[in-house]
Amino acid sequence: MHTITYSGINREVCFEGRDRSLLDISVEQKIPHLHECGGNGHCTTCRVRVIEGSKNLSRPTRKEKIMADLRRWDPSVRLACQCYPEGDVEIQRLVWTSGEINKLQLETVPEGEAEERAIAIMFCDMRNFTKLTSHNSSFDMAHILNRFYTVLGDPILMNNGVIYQYVGDEIVGIFGTSGGTKEKNCLDAIRAAMGMKYAISRLNGMELQDFDTQIKVGISLHFGRAYIGYLGHPKHRQFAVIGDPVNVASRIQELTKETQSGILISKSVYNSAPEGHLKINQVIERELRGKDEPFELYELADFAQPDIHLELQSSLDFILQNTERFSDRFYNKVFSRKPEVKKLFHTDMKTQGRLVTHMIAGIVYSLSRPEHLKMGLSNLGKSHEKYGVRKEYYPIVLECLMETIREEMGESYTERIGEAWRKGLGLVMELMKNWQN
Ligand code: HEM
Ligand code: FES
Repeated sequence: MHTITYSGINREVCFEGRDRSLLDISVEQKIPHLHECGGNGHCTTCRVRVIEGSKNLSRPTRKEKIMADLRRWDPSVRLACQCYPEGDVEIQRLVWTSGEINKLQLETVPEGEAEERAIAIMFCDMRNFTKLTSHNSSFDMAHILNRFYTVLGDPILMNNGVIYQYVGDEIVGIFGTSGGTKEKNCLDAIRAAMGMKYAISRLNGMELQDFDTQIKVGISLHFGRAYIGYLGHPKHRQFAVIGDPVNVASRIQELTKETQSGILISKSVYNSAPEGHLKINQVIERELRGKDEPFELYELADFAQPDIHLELQSSLDFILQNTERFSDRFYNKVFSRKPEVKKLFHTDMKTQGRLVTHMIAGIVYSLSRPEHLKMGLSNLGKSHEKYGVRKEYYPIVLECLMETIREEMGESYTERIGEAWRKGLGLVMELMKNWQN
């Protein structure tokens, strides 16, 4: 019998044999351990730092070696899904939340030099902030500012983007730092911009009601080839994005004030979307500072058809505002509808509820990385078969989830949101059920 110690949460678990990976043991022991690609060595979210006992772990696999070289890891960092413990080890999980996953993309950015990459760039400016500052105490302001940065940052993180920087009241997001097609990077950026618009209108309608001020945002999107790298003084290098597309995106953002537009996108972003995919309010032509040619710009109103990813992303924190209540409601429904499944659960339902809600949030965050999501769900489906879950249980569980979502959202529930969750969860369950294919 050997022990794995999880530092940070002070837990020790015992195991026997050498046939299970560190990740298998975490899942078995119900220890939340991110594994976006389901243990296939692709996503690196299961990474751990080995604090003690590195010699008791199997040697890195080829997949792990490639990842470690590319990302310049020191030897104490290991992929939990690729290493098999053979004795006592102490580890620390390195990625805690789905929102942190995008930071991992920056590991592939070169250090000390810049590399050209095709990226979508977003500038988002928050308006009316000065008015808010002059009327409120600094304590209130710090709270509001943090709320803003969170609700505006989440749509960037949910869409495979990285938050590049905050400049005053401005947030800059970059999409495609680690590759991806033009179409994918632009669509991610468009979805993030729409998500920000939703988030702000909700914040204005709820938390800011007592503040007598409505916050507005002006968002610009542009696509182009820019240089990215870790640059600066050798003792203080910073992630930097340099190039004409960045200046253009910033200038377009300035124009949103004059044109009173919420979201202005450049022609290159507009053209990257399939025809008829976007609803546009108006097309304008403007000269941008420092540019000879006039620019054609499109004021984005919405997606032409409801977009499932966007609906799921923008309702997630509503649905999971109280994860304990959500899982109580959900499992009570499942057990009253199908009492025989109760015996399949061996974990206390509080822990089980935490794992499921954590997984639902993780799925929504990884919608923009479908290749990882597919692998992850296949793996989850395989484990569910081992837990004794029969295919006919899935539709019942789906109905219970849908009812729970409806109840949790209360008055904010709309048919459009319900439809999106039904489709999204339906697809998730299809991938789980048909994991062999
Ligand atoms: C959206 C679909 C579902 C998601 C996201 C999900 C998620 C999870 C997660 C995260 C776990 C923890 C263990 C692990 O990671 O492997 C788990 C365990 C489990 N799930 Fe699901 N699940 C889903 C559908 C279902 C369905 C349809 C059933 C049928 C009754 C079910 C029954 C179970 C059982 C029996 C366990 C094992 C509990 C134990 O060992 O104590 N799940 N599920
Ligand atoms: S790399 Fe280990 S779970 Fe994805």
